[in-house]
Amino acid sequence: MSKILIVEDMANPRKALSILLKKQGMQADEAENGRTALEKLRKQAYDLVITDLKMEPIDGMQVLREAKERNPAGEVIMLTAFGSIENSVDAMKLGAFDYLTKPFKVDVLLNSVKNALAKKAEKQNFHPDDDSFQDIIGHSDGINQVLWVVSQIANTNCTILITGESGTGKELIARAIHQHSYRHNKPMVTVNCVTLAETLLESELFGHVRGAFTGAVRDRKGLFEEAQGGTIFLDEIGDITPQTQKKLLRVLQEGEIRRVGDNHPVKVDVRIIVATNKNLEVEVEKGNFREDLYYRLNVIPVHLPPLRERREDIPLLAHHFIKKFAREIGKETPALSKEALDNLAAYAWPGNIRELENIVERTIALSNKKILQPEDFMLKSPGGLEKKLPEGRTLAEMEKSVILTTLEAFSGNHKQTAENLGISLTTLWRKLKAYESQTAD
Ligand SMILES: Nc1ncnc2c1ncn2[C@@H]1O[C@H](COP(=O)(O)OP(=O)(O)OP(=O)(O)O)[C@@H](O)[C@H]1O
Ligand SMILES: [Mg+2]
Repeated sequence: MSKILIVEDMANPRKALSILLKKQGMQADEAENGRTALEKLRKQAYDLVITDLKMEPIDGMQVLREAKERNPAGEVIMLTAFGSIENSVDAMKLGAFDYLTKPFKVDVLLNSVKNALAKKAEKQNFHPDDDSFQDIIGHSDGINQVLWVVSQIANTNCTILITGESGTGKELIARAIHQHSYRHNKPMVTVNCVTLAETLLESELFGHVRGAFTGAVRDRKGLFEEAQGGTIFLDEIGDITPQTQKKLLRVLQEGEIRRVGDNHPVKVDVRIIVATNKNLEVEVEKGNFREDLYYRLNVIPVHLPPLRERREDIPLLAHHFIKKFAREIGKETPALSKEALDNLAAYAWPGNIRELENIVERTIALSNKKILQPEDFMLKSPGGLEKKLPEGRTLAEMEKSVILTTLEAFSGNHKQTAENLGISLTTLWRKLKAYESQTAD
């Protein structure tokens, strides 16, 4: 039986609504003000909350917020006698299912309730199974944390910002999010924002009408409309122009788009996932990226750590790719010697997982050995540093030059440098301190 909470400070309409819903076979609970509503919401999850907007001191917006926070899969319908566009837009943004102006017709309300419950059921019946992230390899804390966040937020409509260096798996994660949402059987449309020139990007995203610009010979749907009901993945979002940033902000605020050359808005129901390898906060500071857009996109941040910060995943990934490429070209899967594995595990991987994937692919294609050796992988050398004799005359001087070059290769990161050189952090600090006092002399 569907559980519904009715929040309304006027007793008569509240009771009437409750009787109406009970007659439809639903379980209706009542709250006579916002405070009671919040208490009830904290105690149990409702399939649907129908709430009045104007209440003192806790209003319908707060009820909506709490309801969505407690139970993101539940739906909320807002009622108000003071229908203002602004409130309804705010309510929709916060995830309200519908917004009805009082007085409303009974059948309009019942219809809205029916649709809200149907949507709730659709979300609820989606159960991602446990090994559903099987194509995402890794068991490091770093990747586990990412997968946990993803499993929590995949089946919501939150906008997601995925950050991480090139090749860390941003697109892979975006696909996983779509696949684990109730939108999974609707389209996922991927847009690479750098490869499209400015005017093209806009008409690609939003579509255009005939005659909007030279060459626009007929009306054309944009990618937002293509993704209707599904997900749009905007890759390299850090590279869009101020003009497109402004338009995108409007889509996020209003849930509607306008085709280029058209003033007529089109409602879109599309989940937005964006990715970038830039640091958007820095871009905001530099004035390259709108702050308001940044905050709207960064509702749920997902950060993919670079491979060198999750080295325990390297063996798993290496074996995974060896198997995959051997199968693809019909070779027997070769084994990996301990030395080769050690080398892979010590390498810096500036190109992250994509680099590992490419190197393994090349190795499998070129080698016919049963056991792969370090030289089969053609890595530059452990740590990504060229092998050459360190500068210096004495052992101490050579050690200093090795430490300083490694430190530079890891952009000054002490932890990685120490790990790479096989010394403790304390030793590294002690040595660096000693070098400092040398130069001070
Ligand atoms: N955890 C993982 N397990 C298995 N394969 C992975 C994993 N992470 C990434 N890959 C693979 O590595 C390659 C690069 O991943 P992806 O394209 O998602 O990276 P990206 O962060 O979007 O890179 P870029 O910023 O360069 O676009 C893909 O082939 C992807 O399938
Ligand atoms: Mg990518």
